[in-house]
Amino acid sequence: MNHPREEKTFLMIKPDGVRKGLIGEIIKRFEQRGLKIVALEMFHPDKKQIDEHYPKDKKWISRIGDKTLATYQKYNIDPKKVLGTNNNHEIGKIVRKWLFEYLTSAPSVKIIVQGIHAVDVVRKITGPTMPYLADMGTIRGDFSIDSPALANSEKRAIMNLVHASETQEEALHEIKFWFDDRSPFGYKRFGVDE
Ligand code: CDP
Ligand code: MG
Repeated sequence: MNHPREEKTFLMIKPDGVRKGLIGEIIKRFEQRGLKIVALEMFHPDKKQIDEHYPKDKKWISRIGDKTLATYQKYNIDPKKVLGTNNNHEIGKIVRKWLFEYLTSAPSVKIIVQGIHAVDVVRKITGPTMPYLADMGTIRGDFSIDSPALANSEKRAIMNLVHASETQEEALHEIKFWFDDRSPFGYKRFGVDE
C-alpha cells in the first residue's frame, strides 16, 4: 500500500463547469481541504475518448438508469412517456449516449488530486450525482440544480459540473487513460506535507 498521503484520484471539470467560469472555485475547494493538485490540463475530448472513459458493463449502465428511475418514481413521471422505456438498462444506454454530446460540447479540465483518502474526500466535496439532491457546501449543491426531470425531457445528460472517480479502481483506470504514462508532479505542500 502507498503512503496515505499518496492516494490519487481523477477529477474533471466538465464543460458546464468551464462555461460557468468555475474552474478556480472548484479547484480551490480541494486545495483548501488539504488535497494537492499533482497534474492539471485543459483539453477537448472526442466521443471515442468519452466512450472509453465511462465503464461499459451492464451493471454500471443499469445503475445509471436506476438513478433516473428513482427520481421519476418520486415525482410520478412516467419513464415510458419521456424515454420510451421503463427498463433501467435501456435508460442507461440512452443516458450514456447523451454523455458523449455533453462532454464533447466544450473544453474540460482534467486533474489528478492527491491526498488522504483522496477518492472518498473528493467525492464528498463534489456531492451526489443529482444536483437537485446535493447539499449546500458541496460543489454540485452550491452551483447547480439539474434533475433528470428536466434533463431527460430536453434529451440530454444531467449537467453536474464535475466528474470524480468513485473507487480506487476507477481512479487507476481514469488516471492511466487520461494521463497515460505522464507522471504526476511531486512537491511538498506547506501545511500538508510538512
Ligand atoms: O458522476 P457520478 O459518478 O456522480 O455519476 P454516474 O452515476 O457515474 O454517472 C455519470 C454521469 O452521467 C453523471 O455525472 C451525469 O452527468 C450523467 N447521468 C445522467 O445524465 N443521468 C443519470 N440518470 C445518471 C447519470
Ligand atoms: Mg461515476
